[in-house]
Amino acid sequence: MSATARKTAPMPDDIRARKGGAPIVSLTAYTTPMAQLMDGVCDFVLVGDSVGMVLHGLPSTLGVTMEMMIMHGRAVARGLKTSMMVVDMPFGSYEESPQQAFRNAARIMSETGAGAVKLEGGVAMAETIAFLVKRGVPVMAHIGLTPQSINTLGGYKVQGRGDAADALMADADAVAQAGAFAVVLEKVPAALADRITEEVPIPTIGIGASANCDGQILVVDDMLGLFTAFKAKFVKRYAHLGDDAKAAVAAYAEEVQARAFPGPEHVFGEAAPEKKE
Ligand code: KIV
Repeated sequence: MSATARKTAPMPDDIRARKGGAPIVSLTAYTTPMAQLMDGVCDFVLVGDSVGMVLHGLPSTLGVTMEMMIMHGRAVARGLKTSMMVVDMPFGSYEESPQQAFRNAARIMSETGAGAVKLEGGVAMAETIAFLVKRGVPVMAHIGLTPQSINTLGGYKVQGRGDAADALMADADAVAQAGAFAVVLEKVPAALADRITEEVPIPTIGIGASANCDGQILVVDDMLGLFTAFKAKFVKRYAHLGDDAKAAVAAYAEEVQARAFPGPEHVFGEAAPEKKE
């Protein structure tokens, strides 16, 4: 069903059923107004831990906390009626044990109203994904470039090139078998993304992957040109709102300094005196 014709938000199983069908549309959001802009247009909205870099000025996603994810999750939930919300599990909230993952996933779902959580990792996280799914937590997996592991991956490099392709294929198989309802493929060669998309039974959501993935996701501030600290090759800028905002701030400053703002239309006059009988 097209996102605009929907009356209620899809469930994780509806997203899973889109395998091989109409492309799944998704973006990140961190605030209510941004979520309102994409409600009903995106099939799901991800409250990504990219919020740490995009809104909080952190150098990576490693400093993002459960409290940040819950606060932004609650804000996004207020803006959504007909798109599903997925919330990222932050670094350190799920890797230690399946039990730790369940405790924190349950908190995210009950405190934000998320329809699902997303966590990073393939084979190494398969046991945890199965544990969560069996206990009522729908999981979106995230493999390839997993930004929470930049210190062991050696930076933000393309993953799965050459001999590493089979390991990434194994990651995709493992998360699908563990019960993930979809898998994000970040920064992997297009041919490998196509192979994974053909072979795994769950939808692949590409970011820096391939147009043949079952869906696509981008960080909203990247595609709107609001986050300009750096631009990955896979980002397409659909607008340049950062430039517009800078120009607006400069124009305001100039008008304030020239006493041209506020104008007569922005100020209040005396109230008319009351008539005496
Ligand atoms: O945190 C995030 O924004 C993400 C997307 C890039 C998939 O994980």
